[in-house]
Amino acid sequence: MILVTGGAGFIGSNFVLDWLAAGGEPVVNLDKLTYAGNRENLRALDGDARHLFVHGDIGDAQLVAGLLERHQPRALLNFAAESHVDRSIHAPGTFIETNVVGTFRLLEAVRAWWGGLQGAPREGFRFLHVSTDEVYGSLAPADPAFTEQHQYEPNSPYSASKAASDHLVRAYHHTYGLPVVTTNCSNNYGPYHFPEKLIPLMIVNALAGKPLPVYGDGRQVRDWLYVGDHCSAIRRVLEAGRLGETYNVGGWNEKPNIEIVQVVCALLDELRPRVGGGSYADQLTYVKDRPGHDRRYAIDARKIQRELGWRPAETFETGIRKTVQWYLENGDWVQRVQSGAYRDWIATHYAPA
Ligand code: NAD
Ligand code: DAU
Repeated sequence: MILVTGGAGFIGSNFVLDWLAAGGEPVVNLDKLTYAGNRENLRALDGDARHLFVHGDIGDAQLVAGLLERHQPRALLNFAAESHVDRSIHAPGTFIETNVVGTFRLLEAVRAWWGGLQGAPREGFRFLHVSTDEVYGSLAPADPAFTEQHQYEPNSPYSASKAASDHLVRAYHHTYGLPVVTTNCSNNYGPYHFPEKLIPLMIVNALAGKPLPVYGDGRQVRDWLYVGDHCSAIRRVLEAGRLGETYNVGGWNEKPNIEIVQVVCALLDELRPRVGGGSYADQLTYVKDRPGHDRRYAIDARKIQRELGWRPAETFETGIRKTVQWYLENGDWVQRVQSGAYRDWIATHYAPA
């Protein structure tokens, strides 16, 4: 069996669903169920004996030690994190707690348990750490894309906390020989994406007749990858990634934010025309920029392609259409994640200056 942390969040839940659909071993899923964690994402697995959900914190050393001892996983995949840059600017503390201290405690628990293993279970064990391209900082328009050799230059409390966790993972390999691999991926999109992030926020606000808040000039560039492709990359790295290595994962799909918003609006215009006419793009509004906003991310994903034969299956056109369709068909999911806590966040963060 494998132990997944953060498997009730956006990418983690997509990973668990895809993993079991592909016939993978049973999953123990440890998740704290923060505002971003949602057991409903895993509803398709209700009653499925291959999925054991455990409500808890990666920083709870005793709990993690017990899970490792009881289930003897052949791999641990660490998705658990605070993941939203804007929240890290408003309140960085939880990012340090979970992404830095939590990852440290998780590594310590794994090191203690793994240290007692022998033979094939010890040789075969993997700690796969899921990280982000944001650790590399920001690129100028003509700079080459981030390779795995790019210097770490994190600019937000979120990316700094992820960079710290990457360094700890690396150090546990270098110092203790823990069998780790790390993935650094670009911006994901797809089903179960919490509507505080750009793409789902735009879909949800458009349908609700609300403003579509574009930060600054909207010319910041991100590389976008369909979440199912990120999951297939992680499966491949788990299967064949070299120990102690990092793999950049990306979609070869750089786009400025404003273009993303326009594509989303055009798809909504086609699939759910606005009552009363006009385009959803009429709701677009430029708002105050994110402090310290990184201008451009771009991923050079040649290493994972060359070494492991992975490449994305979706184009942006196919992926974004599926995503918009999913949100149109899952309005009840959106309504249920919009809890009181979510409404408070929107009211505070997007309040007029
Ligand atoms: P998310 O915020 O949607 O989900 C995070 C999950 O972790 C939630 O289910 C939450 O309840 C859980 N969690 C938080 N703190 C925890 C703790 N202390 N113990 C146990 N569980 C805890 O995040 P996501 O977008 O699914 O991202 C997953 C991982 O992938 C993160 O590590 C993130 O840094 C990384 N990543 C995300 C993206 C992206 O575009 N979303 C891209 C690259 C890398
Ligand atoms: O690059 C990978 C990272 O992508 C992950 O590590 C993070 O966990 C994930 O949240 C994401 O970070 P970003 O900051 O790039 O994603 P976000 O969806 O918050 O914003 C994408 C871009 O859109 C960014 O340039 C900011 C802009 N934006 C965002 C929001 C929420 C807006 O213009 N308006 C908005 O309301």
